[in-house]
Order: sequence, then structure tokens, then C-alpha cells
Amino acid sequence: MKKEIDYTRFNSPVTPNRSRRLYIETYGCQMNVSDSEVVAAIMQQAGFTITDHMADADVVLINTCSVRDNAEQRVRGRLDLFRLQKQRMPGLIVGVLGCMAERLKEQLLENGTVDLVAGPDAYRTLPQLVHNAESGQQGVNTLLSREETYADISPVRTDKNGVTAFVSIMRGCNNVCAYCVVPYTRGAERSRPSETILREVRTLLQNGYREVTLLGQNVNSYCEPAAAESKTITFARLLERVALEDPSLRVRFSTSHPKDMHNDVLYTIAMYPNICNHIHLPVQSGSSRILEKMRRGYSREHYMERLAKIREIIPECAITTDIIAGFCSETDDDHAQTLSLMREAEYDAAFMFRYSERPGTKAARHYPDDVPTEIKTRRLNEIIALQNQLSLESNRRDVGKIFIVLAEGNSKRSDAFLFGRTSHNKVTVFPKAKFKAGDYVPVKITTCTSATLIGEVTGMNNE
Ligand code: 5AD
Ligand code: SF4
Repeated sequence: MKKEIDYTRFNSPVTPNRSRRLYIETYGCQMNVSDSEVVAAIMQQAGFTITDHMADADVVLINTCSVRDNAEQRVRGRLDLFRLQKQRMPGLIVGVLGCMAERLKEQLLENGTVDLVAGPDAYRTLPQLVHNAESGQQGVNTLLSREETYADISPVRTDKNGVTAFVSIMRGCNNVCAYCVVPYTRGAERSRPSETILREVRTLLQNGYREVTLLGQNVNSYCEPAAAESKTITFARLLERVALEDPSLRVRFSTSHPKDMHNDVLYTIAMYPNICNHIHLPVQSGSSRILEKMRRGYSREHYMERLAKIREIIPECAITTDIIAGFCSETDDDHAQTLSLMREAEYDAAFMFRYSERPGTKAARHYPDDVPTEIKTRRLNEIIALQNQLSLESNRRDVGKIFIVLAEGNSKRSDAFLFGRTSHNKVTVFPKAKFKAGDYVPVKITTCTSATLIGEVTGMNNE
């Protein structure tokens, strides 16, 4: 997410009377990326031009994450740099958006680096907050809403590849995971009306997009209550409707909560070839004792039963996860159970974290953060080493197979190669030949690393 800054441009004078320019920097989850696109749309409507260069900007907004302490530290580092930038460019407006804005509110305004603070449900008021800041007042709006879904706003796509896009389907979270700050920073769960989601998907299709990822903190609990003459729209029904928009549109979704991953969603995935065979199902720990302490709402056995069901209904489904090492009171035995669950689950990929206590959460209030840092780090390293091995084994099983890859752009290493992803969400690199971003390309996998499949363009028959 982090964009490099061209420091040499900091001294360029601000040209008066041109349309004001906005630069947005985004940290954290995909939801934040999606929110920044909503912010760009709101600000564009208010007359701003979006720039990719911070040095050109009149307004700099930083969309922040509070999920772990190191995410916040990174943003603090950026704010230190913005302080210098403000000294060189008097009149520059700096604003903090997102989860840190919600969590820290006025504290952020204290040392004068920041001119405005807007929480995740306050983005419609940004033009006013910027206006206030320009006239010398500080602006804060961190009110959380029970209704706001930005349903009517067409996000300005900042992803640039023109092939894949995020579509936010809900906001907030009603779960009570003991470690998690999200319910406090993003408020209560609310679903966006399905018609506005479908409209956004249609616009993306018209603009040439080939893949959408439906986003929410817990997409499986999406629910649009029944209106007159229509049925309740569950996540399974929404997924089906999006898939039916166009068979050439790939559909992904994230994130699923294991306690809400019901069979109806699995049958829907199995039924529509354009719904990708990949489920991100965060387990967090392999120990039922820790899962209970985390208040996840499922046991190891329930999770493994869900995994078995996924593999029964969608035999080739890729499964990825999130794991936390060193949650409060975690013993060597609990940790060993996490490693054994990973082996049983044979995850294709995982995001792995050291537990980081977040102020105000249930864990921070009720349990001591009692696993020493060195032990957390050792356990995390063991988890990462095991996952590298599992990812490599998963990729090796794909060597010799043919996958349809949706090309997203030139590979990082060479313009002679394209990269894209398989339905299983595996990054695949192959020679460009006559293909371009947006094409579906049959690729036979010839070799791999733990992170990437490498292949050649081929005909369609798996041999
Ligand atoms: N410490 C470490 N990891 C966390 N996550 C959420 N909160 C914390 C925390 N306090 C992880 C979880 C979640 C992912 C988005 O971030 O694994 O699924
Ligand atoms: Fe996203 Fe959670 Fe970070 Fe907020 S705290 S940006 S919801 S990951």
C-alpha cells in the first residue's frame, strides 16, 4: 500500500488558483483500500483532483489501521514525515482517516501535525472538514453510524489494473473476538442494499473489469431483510446474483467467519464456475481452549468439520487462513495444537501474526498479555516456517496441471511476462505472448516457489 515519495519535489511552490489536489495513502486491510476509493469519490465530487504524488497535493489523507500495534507505529512514522512536509509547504492540510482516527480521536490533533480526523463512518463530511481546516479550525468527526454503507457512492477505482476490483457489501462487525479492535473502530455490522451492490458490479463490467471481491468483516452474515414481495437476501443469494451477472466475471469474497460458514454458501460456490474456488477461513488458533478464550464461537473440532465439508462439496477448494501466535495464556501445548491443525488443514497460504494487545478490547481488559515477546516470536517463526513448507507442497501439487489464469498485468520482474491468479488465488507468472491484462489464459504449471506458480501458455486439455 505504501507509495514511495519523491522528496525532491517537496520544494515546488503551490500554484495558486488550480483545482485542489488530494493524495491518499492507505494502510491496513482490503476494506481500507475500498474505503479510500469511496473517499476519492466524495472528494472528487467536491472538486478535488486525485494525485498519485504527495508532493503535488494540497490535502494529504492517511487511511489508517489499528489492528496491531506495529500498524499504528508505521502510521506514526508517516505522520512525523508529514510534519516536516507541512513546515516546507505551509497551507498543506493533513488528515487521518480510518481505524486510528476512530481509536485516538482528538489525541491525533494535539501536536499540530494533523488538521482533521475522520472515522470510517464520517467520510461524507470530509469536504466540510477540509474546508474547516483550510479556514484554520481543526475538524473531528468520529461518529459511528448504524446505517452508513456509502451505498450510493460509486468508488473511484485506484487499483489501476482495470481488471480486479473490491466491492464493499457490508460494514462493521458484531462479533466479540477478545483480541480485536475492529468492533470498536468500525462499529456495528450493517449490510449494504443488494441492488446497489449489483449496480456497482454492472458498472465495473461495463468498464471492462473481470473480477470482483465482495468485502466485509464477516461476509457470511450478510443479510438484507425481506422487503414486500421479496425474500431475505442471505450471503449465498447475494453471491449467486453477482455470479449470474456475467459468467465471464470472476467472483471472490473475504472474509468468512468459521462459525457462520454454512453449507448454502458452499453449494453456491460449487454450482457457479465463475465463483472462485478459494475460501479465506481464519482459524486464529488450533487449541479449543484458546479459541474459547478468544471468544471465536467455535472449537477446533467444529472448524475441522467445516473444512471437511468444504472439501466434500468443493473438492478442489483452496483454503487460506489467519493465525495469531502467543495469545494470552497460550502454552507450548496450545501452540503445538496450532501447528498440528495447520498440518491437518494443509493450508494453501496464511497470514500469520504475533498477538498484539489492543487497548479497550476484551482481552486487554480481562487477561494479562503474559506470553513473553521472545516466545511469541519463536512460535510465530515456527508457524511461518511450517506454512512455507505447506505452501510449497500445495504449489508442487499443481505442477503439471493446467489452470485458467486471469491476467492482471506485467510481472514485477519482466515485461515479457504477465502475472495473474488462478481460481485458487495463486499468483501465476507466464510468458506474455499475445496476451494482455484482462485476458483469461490457460497456463500449464511447469515449476513453482512457495509463493508463486510459474508456467507456460497452453491448450485447454489437462493431460
Ligand atoms: N493481534 C494480532 N493479530 C490480530 N488480528 C486481529 N487482531 C489482532 C491482534 N490484536 C489478526 C487476526 C485477524 C487478522 C485480520 O488480523 O488474525 O484475522
Ligand atoms: Fe481493517 Fe481492522 Fe485494520 Fe481497521 S483495524 S483497517 S478494519 S484490519
